[in-house]
Amino acid sequence: MESNHLSLEEIQKRLVYPHLFRLAYFSTLDSTNTWTLQKARQGEASGWVTIAESQQQGRGRYGRRWEDVPGKAILLSLLVKGLPALFNPLMLNYWVALQIAEALEFVIQTAGVIQLKWPNDILIQNKKLGGILIEGNFSGQQPRYFVIGIGLNINQDVGDFPHYLQGRATSLQLITGFPLKREVVIAQLLNRLAPLVSGQLQIDTSGLLQQYKNRLLYLGKNIEVRLGNQRINGRFIDLTDEGFLILQTEKGKQIIHSGEIFHEG
Ligand code: BTN
Repeated sequence: MESNHLSLEEIQKRLVYPHLFRLAYFSTLDSTNTWTLQKARQGEASGWVTIAESQQQGRGRYGRRWEDVPGKAILLSLLVKGLPALFNPLMLNYWVALQIAEALEFVIQTAGVIQLKWPNDILIQNKKLGGILIEGNFSGQQPRYFVIGIGLNINQDVGDFPHYLQGRATSLQLITGFPLKREVVIAQLLNRLAPLVSGQLQIDTSGLLQQYKNRLLYLGKNIEVRLGNQRINGRFIDLTDEGFLILQTEKGKQIIHSGEIFHEG
């Protein structure tokens, strides 16, 4: 039976490169990203991982709250330093999203079921399973560090989600019908994220974009993109080589650098 408390030992023994990571565990924290950003400023090295059972002020994209039920989700932030200057943060998002997809599919032993929603929502059966919040600090073009925040719904029941998320969010347990050992998921994830810390990361951007597009929900569909108060409707026809969304609107093609896909138009 899955315990409601994560065991760092259970994670560590499954790590292929345990020396790369330093795991810090909290039963509650304001936000693992905020804590890890603070660690980065204090000079902590690459590979620091903050894990919490619950967040008082979990942060999502666009300043939204990231909700949780203690002991049922994965709430984790990884500190990464020393990535090359040319590294495009959007590509980092995509690469991380793909590692998450592969880790989850490995754990549930089902290939090809994890979907991605541009830019970096993790979905299954068209419902949100998790999200990524990457926060960076730069000196000019040179990234000083990135904090990669990952929130994944693992063992929640339907009633664990707030009303406004019911029908839109899901958990791995709801999909598979059985609780999962969160330590296994975290270890699988960190094993795949290890190249970020070891300095071995090599990204072939066109291959990465192709893999990302293979999982991309709404590609080829009519969508509405919202950015602040602005709403743009069109057909999501492709991504640029830099990973921006290309929207075919009535007025022609528009390149969308950031925003949120709301629904099929
Ligand atoms: C999204 O809006 O989809 C991104 C959600 C990211 C949530 C995670 S949970 C762990 C980390 N700490 C935070 O405060 N946010 C990220």
